[in-house]
Amino acid sequence: MNTRIFNSTDKKEIDEAAALLKEGKLVAIPTETVYGLAADALNPKAVADIFKAKGRPQDNPLIVHISEFSEIYPLVKEVPDNAKALAEKFWPGPLTIILPKSDIIPDEVSAGLATVAVRMPSHPVARAIIKSAGVPLAAPSANSSGLPSPTKAEHVIDDMMGKIEGIVDGGECAVGVESTVITLATNPPRLLRPGGITPEQLRSVLGEIEIDSAVTNKLKEGAVAASPGMKYKHYSPKAEVYIVKGTFSSFRCFTDEVMAEGDYAVCFDGEEKNLKLPCFCYGSEDSPSQQAQKLFAILRDADKKGAKRVFVRCPSMEGVGLAVYNRLIRAAAFRVINVPEIIGLTGQTGAGKTTVAELLKEKGGYVIDCDIAARKIVEKGSPVIEKLKEAFGEDIVFENGELNRKALAKKAFSTEENEKLLNKITHPAITELVRKDIIENKDNFPFFAVDAALLFESEIYDYCNRTIVVCADENIRLQRIMSRDSISREEALLRINAQPSEQYYLSKADVVVKNNGGEIILADLF
Ligand code: TXA
Ligand code: MG
Repeated sequence: MNTRIFNSTDKKEIDEAAALLKEGKLVAIPTETVYGLAADALNPKAVADIFKAKGRPQDNPLIVHISEFSEIYPLVKEVPDNAKALAEKFWPGPLTIILPKSDIIPDEVSAGLATVAVRMPSHPVARAIIKSAGVPLAAPSANSSGLPSPTKAEHVIDDMMGKIEGIVDGGECAVGVESTVITLATNPPRLLRPGGITPEQLRSVLGEIEIDSAVTNKLKEGAVAASPGMKYKHYSPKAEVYIVKGTFSSFRCFTDEVMAEGDYAVCFDGEEKNLKLPCFCYGSEDSPSQQAQKLFAILRDADKKGAKRVFVRCPSMEGVGLAVYNRLIRAAAFRVINVPEIIGLTGQTGAGKTTVAELLKEKGGYVIDCDIAARKIVEKGSPVIEKLKEAFGEDIVFENGELNRKALAKKAFSTEENEKLLNKITHPAITELVRKDIIENKDNFPFFAVDAALLFESEIYDYCNRTIVVCADENIRLQRIMSRDSISREEALLRINAQPSEQYYLSKADVVVKNNGGEIILADLF
């Protein structure tokens, strides 16, 4: 078949494309979401051809597109008030509403279901074509089944050339992901597919809505999909896609480490400068709409470059981000890699590490205090206590088996050699405890902060993606130590002088936080 490309700016060509549709032929049309593969929705033979051209499973129903609100009436049993309210607010636009269907909807469209999905697109070309054809148009995304949806005419050409009658070129799609699908056939209404209209926007009209679990999770084996489209492999390029959860810094460390021939990264704008992998940028980190607009084109471009693996920075799931995540998780066949960042937090005594640790907790991080870990490993009966007894003698424990800290300190700090021996026994146990804590919690936090006075001397340092050194003026530190530990100025000075110099800490810091008591700003960290 010869596939004709129509120019959407020419009214005559629009009418010609519409005439083909009216005759029962297939024509791909631009919409604001993605390109659709259209046919007369009331012509069962034409609709059956859509399934053939796409290679689409027969049980996956289609969306019927209209150009005016009044055109919904013949398609459904009735138009409830909540449908009117949604249409009033979001039509024309990227929202599909499911309602019990009328008898004129062929089974081919609804795939045998008792409901029909209806949408009024906002793209002027789409509406002009529907109007000119004079029939509602059934239109799934115009990709071969399973591939990323087309957001440019060239994507449709790649998938459909020779298989359909025509393609109307309307430029790039503005939204970039398919419409939000909500069913009003359930109570409360249920979101089946997130898109350009967000759950918050839907709630503003409908009040309570449910979000189908298939939106973010894999459908369980044998479960019935509320929306049949959810159960199929989707949006998948040939490359293996991986979603990488964590901060940018952990993403960078991870990709630097695993990178191999054929690997690509999908990152937020500006991050490409600091990555070794070749990158596709999918918009600003705080703009899910930009990410949505670019995502599918990037997945197709990755295939064109012959990408083997694509590592994608995980989008936020807020607002339109939910739609971006929903498409990505399917493109990635549910492969998600958690790489929480590990931040080492250190500084001289009295510098105010604890205040910074609290701020990191507020940012959603999990803070591990090595002082606490150091106490845990010498609990009564622990293997470390046994080793310490072997090294320093039985009298470092009380009769009840508890550690006698004073006795241990006296022996361990008597010579440099003894101090080394103490560290050799305790440090690996502390590191192990910290490691376990991180592994146990790694799926629940975007980053970890390990608060360790001796960070640079310990093995934990090897696990850190970045280090924060907290510092403060010496007289401020002196005051803090004196009041914290109720000791004299001389004693406080002794402690300060027992530690390495500030210069030593600063030379090893990735980030320096000055904490003289004023406001601390950590914004640049993330
Ligand atoms: O933005 C869009 O919606 C694009 C453009 C072309 O309008 N169309 C689109 O169609 O994405 P399609 O066929 O790729 O996706 C339609 C989705 C599928 O997941 C399908 O299972 C679901 O809507 N769907 C259609 N009718 C349904 C029904 N009666 N009940 C439940 N789900 C339905
Ligand atoms: Mg589709």
